[in-house]
Amino acid sequence: MRKTILAVPALALVMLTDPSPVLAASFPAVRGSGGAVVSPEATSTTVGLDILRAGGNAVDAAVATALAMAVVHPEAGNLGGGGFAVVRVEGQLATLDFRETAPAAAHRDMYLDEKGEPRPGASWVGPLAAGVPGSPAGLQELHSRFGELPWSDVVKPAIVLARDGFLVTRRLNEAVEGTRERLARFPETAAIWLPGGEPPAVGSRVFLPDLAATLEAYADQGREAIQSGHIARAIATASRRYGGILTIEDLASYQPVWREPLRFDAFGWSFASMGLPSSGGFLVGGSLQLLERLGYAHEMPRGARRAHMLAEVWRRVFADRVLLGDPGSTQAEPTALLAGDRLARLAGSIEAEQAMPSERVAGGDHAELFELLERLGPIREPSETNHLAVADIDGNLVALTTTLNGSFGCGLLVPGAGFLLNNEMDDFATVPGRPNAYGLIQGPANEIRPGRRMLSSMSPTLAWKGDESITIGGRGGSKIPTAVAQALLGLLTGEHGLQESIDTPRIHHQWFPDRIGYEDDALAPETREALSGFGHLLAESSGLARVHAVRRLAGGDFEAAGDPRGPAVGGIVDPEP
Ligand code: GLY
Repeated sequence: MRKTILAVPALALVMLTDPSPVLAASFPAVRGSGGAVVSPEATSTTVGLDILRAGGNAVDAAVATALAMAVVHPEAGNLGGGGFAVVRVEGQLATLDFRETAPAAAHRDMYLDEKGEPRPGASWVGPLAAGVPGSPAGLQELHSRFGELPWSDVVKPAIVLARDGFLVTRRLNEAVEGTRERLARFPETAAIWLPGGEPPAVGSRVFLPDLAATLEAYADQGREAIQSGHIARAIATASRRYGGILTIEDLASYQPVWREPLRFDAFGWSFASMGLPSSGGFLVGGSLQLLERLGYAHEMPRGARRAHMLAEVWRRVFADRVLLGDPGSTQAEPTALLAGDRLARLAGSIEAEQAMPSERVAGGDHAELFELLERLGPIREPSETNHLAVADIDGNLVALTTTLNGSFGCGLLVPGAGFLLNNEMDDFATVPGRPNAYGLIQGPANEIRPGRRMLSSMSPTLAWKGDESITIGGRGGSKIPTAVAQALLGLLTGEHGLQESIDTPRIHHQWFPDRIGYEDDALAPETREALSGFGHLLAESSGLARVHAVRRLAGGDFEAAGDPRGPAVGGIVDPEP
């Protein structure tokens, strides 16, 4: 039996009561023994902890937390988006793909004008940018296979939050302010999120009765309540009104898919991560395995040779990403790309102190592309994804990442239903040969086709070694896999605890643009000088993704670790003594 004690760090306690939390530079990890939840919000973490205390397992808690995020973190938590979950329940590993799909009327050139040029904003703003939502079916499917509590108990906390209201945090106020222009385009959205033309004030209470009614119907009827009937009609009608192509048939036919976890070993640990249509598992797995081969652990922490190894490894695995796409269309299988002989060849192509220009990686001639990227200038860096990590006292683990893609997705709130639609179509190769919003180059396997799932970088991952286990993942688009790999490396090399490993300043490289992005303090001036000497270009970059994780230590204690780059709140349940 679990008693109702919430062991949270002082910082999280402040966050539970203060509507405008300010994150400290270092987030104290929480320790305890009854189970743990980390999510971006105090409210959603508390919901997950309450579910654990009520006897729910990690899957019940994860689904309830995700639904609570759909209310209190509407810029990324969602019913109108999609995501991925990697779970271990009673020793059984599984991954659920509830990624959005391209609508039946979608086609390769749908975002181009008659001259073949991209129509500005077409794959980003408004419902033409929306894929068929996967979250309603996905979250229910996850619960129905692995949950223990009744479905209605798991949905109820989100209903209560939407119906009885919740306090507006500074983060939410700023998120609305930052997306004001997109939200203001749609009166349906502005009526809720820009009342009187302004974002809801910090500390005010927001009530979402339409969303509460949607969640009530979802609690009663499950996915059917959203994928058919009046809500599906409202989605299709709103989509049509603003030039979208989502139909009732698209919604009714959406199915989440259980897929084989992508498994690999590195640094003495075993891993299960997300396979296609996410590239995340491949990118994390390829990075860690190559770094182990290169002897990363034996190089000086935070020295130039380590940063060089990371950059060279990432430019190679991100070059491979171009081959990937929906499992039905991919040009390469991640498992084949991770085969030992291939990794040995890739590792052998990395010189100790000499950068290889990205144009030369993967054998292609990318000079034209490189020029284009230089002309386009700095890439927008959207990072509005949500990750939550849950572990329960029985050893069950969940890593769940969900998103609308951009902040508040395409900006259109479904009238009467109260939730926003995604703009996930931008994750396809919307303009063949050109980078997407994350600066990622996409290949033919990720071109738009009806029913295809767009390639993702989400990286929910589980890891274990002996009696220890970790659930980890992050938000931040293309920077998620490099952040997850770095957050793990401190632990895998035995140099840091989980929290310190997440706190450590990070770097990023993704093949193109051909430069190392680095957070302030990640590279000392002499390290930067050495890297320049190796031939790397460098650019300071703020906020390289956010990582949340829970670790179960060998003795059975849990460590809940959130990212100080925030927002993040971790909590622990303590069992009855
Ligand atoms: N929407 C970002 C991703 O899936 O990678």
